Amino acid sequence: MAVPALHFGRKSLLVLLSLVLTLALGMGLPEGLSFLARLFGFAENSVIHGIVLLYFLYVLYVAMPALPRGTVPVEDKHVLITGCDTGFGFALAKHLHAIGFTVFAGCLLKDKGGDGARELQSMQSDSMKVLQLNVTSDEEITQAVEFVRKNLKEPQRGLWGIVNNAGVSKFGGVEFESLDNYKEVADVNLWGTVRVTKAFLPLIRRAKGRVVNIASMLGRMASPSRSCYCISKYAVEAFSDCLRQEMYQWGVKVAVIEPSNFIAATRILTQEDVENQADELWKKASEIVQEDYGKEYFAHQIVLMKSFVNSGFKDMSPVLNDITDALSSKLPYTRYNPSDTYWWIRLKIMTHLPASIANWIYIR
Ligand SMILES: NC(=O)c1ccc[n+]([C@@H]2O[C@H](COP(=O)([O-])OP(=O)(O)OC[C@H]3O[C@@H](n4cnc5c(N)ncnc54)[C@H](OP(=O)(O)O)[C@@H]3O)[C@@H](O)[C@H]2O)c1
Ligand SMILES: *[C@@H]1O[C@H](CO)[C@@H](O)[C@H](O)[C@H]1NC(C)=O
Repeated sequence: MAVPALHFGRKSLLVLLSLVLTLALGMGLPEGLSFLARLFGFAENSVIHGIVLLYFLYVLYVAMPALPRGTVPVEDKHVLITGCDTGFGFALAKHLHAIGFTVFAGCLLKDKGGDGARELQSMQSDSMKVLQLNVTSDEEITQAVEFVRKNLKEPQRGLWGIVNNAGVSKFGGVEFESLDNYKEVADVNLWGTVRVTKAFLPLIRRAKGRVVNIASMLGRMASPSRSCYCISKYAVEAFSDCLRQEMYQWGVKVAVIEPSNFIAATRILTQEDVENQADELWKKASEIVQEDYGKEYFAHQIVLMKSFVNSGFKDMSPVLNDITDALSSKLPYTRYNPSDTYWWIRLKIMTHLPASIANWIYIR
């Protein structure tokens, strides 16, 4: 579904492209291109036709509203979401419930009386079923499958959807992170997704349902100080792509959501987390790393990270709308990028231009 900021970005690009084209056409581009065309044995005017066609396609891409793709009825559909204690998961559980889905809200802290689980339970709705689910625990996943099976109205028709949302994040340069940190993040973001998906696939296949994996824009492009998180999200993308190909024959659709920066809207990484992690990273770094990088450089990275975690969208609705589309559209997209203009353009550049140029623009 449309994000206003995103549309603004695309329209600005369109205006820019039009200006550039107007200038280029006025400054002898057609003659130059026609000369080249003749040189390679093409008809002279095929060049101009090509330019006009490209321009026309881009205008269509920007100006056309999304084609209506139809929706499936949601009233009889059940969806399991992981990580519903806070953030996207918590908001999504409420949102899907409000539009008519029956929700299985997996919470990490249900048994510990966590706030999110308690608030969802307090809705006292038959179609909001809260369960204990730590995605790093095989035992809890097995219990979750049993719970879901028992609570489906028609278990033989399977489960419509799972949303692998549970996630954790860390920051810190490669030379500062411990291997345990890498493993900790991967255990939730990657192996959690794989475990939960494998456990629920028999039910999902039965329903010809949906698997929706929450990756990230950092599952498509790298960022310094984020290697722990990036490698786990790149892996979620790969896992989803393989699964999509395998599930094709079963009629199961697999979508990936790649939100940009909604950090300030959720609990994924707070300024407090950054401070705590920073102390830890510096203390544990080897002497040579401390000496070579220096406290000043390190402190500057912390300042940058703290300003990053305070930025971005505070309104989660673009993410919630995209997940809803992935679950309820008759023809869901493969990838969704709920995003602000800055990160939308950065992702396009990072994934389409040669790495040397993209890195020169953004990293250096
Ligand atoms: N916010 C963004 O800008 C952004 C951007 C791109 C992608 N994402 C992704 O969106 C997803 C949701 O994150 P969020 O931003 O909503 O952050 P969040 O508020 O921290 O939500 C993530 C939830 O997952 C829970 N969780 C952690 N470990 C778990 C485990 N082992 N088993 C089950 N649940 C576990 C967390 O519980 P605790 O809080 O108790 O740890 C938390 O409630 C994540 O996959 C994240 O990577 C977020
Ligand atoms: C989740 O499960 C893992 C592995 O079983 C365990 O180490 C961790 O403490 C659990 N987390 C919570 C919050 O219960």
